[in-house]
Amino acid sequence: NQQTSTAKPKRETFSGQKAFIFAAIGSAVGLGNIWRFPYVTYDNGGGAFIIPYLVALLTAGIPLLFLDYAIGHKYRGSAPLSFRRMSSKLEAFGWWQVLINVIIGIYYAVILGWSASYTYFSLNKAWGSNHADFFFKEYLRMADGAGVSMDFVSAVTLPQIGVWAFILIVMALGVQKGVGKSSAFFMPLLTVMFGILVVSSLFLPGAAKGLNALFTPNWDKLLEPAVWIAAYGQIFFSLSICFGIMVTYASYLKRDTDLTGSGLVVGFANSSFELLAGIGVFAALGFMAQAGGKEVSEVATSGIGLAFIAFPAIIDQAPMGSLLGVLFFGSLLFAGVTSLISILEVIIAAVQDKLHWGRVVSTIVVCVPMALLSIALFGTTTGLPMLDVLDKFVTNFGIVAVAFFSLVAMAIGKYLPTLAEHINRTSSFKVGKMWVLVSGILTPVVLGYMLFSELTKIIK
Ligand code: PHE
Repeated sequence: NQQTSTAKPKRETFSGQKAFIFAAIGSAVGLGNIWRFPYVTYDNGGGAFIIPYLVALLTAGIPLLFLDYAIGHKYRGSAPLSFRRMSSKLEAFGWWQVLINVIIGIYYAVILGWSASYTYFSLNKAWGSNHADFFFKEYLRMADGAGVSMDFVSAVTLPQIGVWAFILIVMALGVQKGVGKSSAFFMPLLTVMFGILVVSSLFLPGAAKGLNALFTPNWDKLLEPAVWIAAYGQIFFSLSICFGIMVTYASYLKRDTDLTGSGLVVGFANSSFELLAGIGVFAALGFMAQAGGKEVSEVATSGIGLAFIAFPAIIDQAPMGSLLGVLFFGSLLFAGVTSLISILEVIIAAVQDKLHWGRVVSTIVVCVPMALLSIALFGTTTGLPMLDVLDKFVTNFGIVAVAFFSLVAMAIGKYLPTLAEHINRTSSFKVGKMWVLVSGILTPVVLGYMLFSELTKIIK
């Protein structure tokens, strides 16, 4: 498959705008929506958080989504190739993004494996009565020093192998048949499952208590810079912007695609899903608080603690708990799978573009080492603390830094007006000077501040 320098290599495309939108929403909607957003909102002013959140969405989320789309669509390459085509000096940003995706991919897959196990455990509430002990000691075998047993292999490792095997097949099938089709399958399914989960959680006794805790505004919080940082951080992570993902996906769009129209759909779908998750999760936490005679503040949590320790308790006590469990962990799994697919697409596309290897070979070369690392690293007792460190490092530092430096470089190189022109050529919603100013100045200032405050925290 030799290309001469004059003939443009033929690039795969999504079958149409719909396939792209499903894939982009599939990437955006992930663990961040389900287990991160609800607690971030609760912790940062509740109902009042809507203001920084919307400001971040409208001044950074949507504009940068347009920017990512424009880069991929104009330069038609994976993140490193697109940046290189913009200017040879910028290629490194693309590789930086690829590296971030490698790290996130390795631990994202681990959590999907756990979610698969817990979907199954939900059926007979296999976790007994002490949920933290079960998760850490029995399931993950932390701290017992007994080495790896057969139970461990079958409960922890097998689901992870399953996740990777599935991902490998999807990725090897390529952009439309693999990424496009699987997203178009999982996203509607997820919406239905999650919708049922949220509605049923609203009927649990105590749900109102949870919703009150989530939505009661604490306006004073708006004066704290940390709250605004949290809003921007949530938007960046949740929309998967500046990760190279949207650049890569947009490079598979046909020439005459309405970029801003798709961006608006993706942005608002993602936020709607987040809001829905906030309602569902806090209704369930309200139920848990009421059943245990506690305050919501005593049970509110996020991440691993929410999914693998609080939710099993909710499932134990709720009517039709097993069903809720299957819906919850199944949602986590399906939401995460489409995000993991997008993460791998960034890496595989970059390898394909750089080395001119075929799809299947690139997929194997990327997925197999990542799978082995992921299973080896997190199949051990050191896995969990490491996951925490990686997560903090990547969200607080990796993404913010690459977003900041790449935006500054694009602003200095004056690439933004050209990209605006490119967007307007095919889009229904036009962008103008405002967009250039927001992407080139306002957002970098906010990101610079975030970076600075993270650095000072590390130094302290
Ligand atoms: N957007 C995803 C979420 O909300 C997270 C993610 C980030 C996925 C980066 C892929 C890449 O969970």
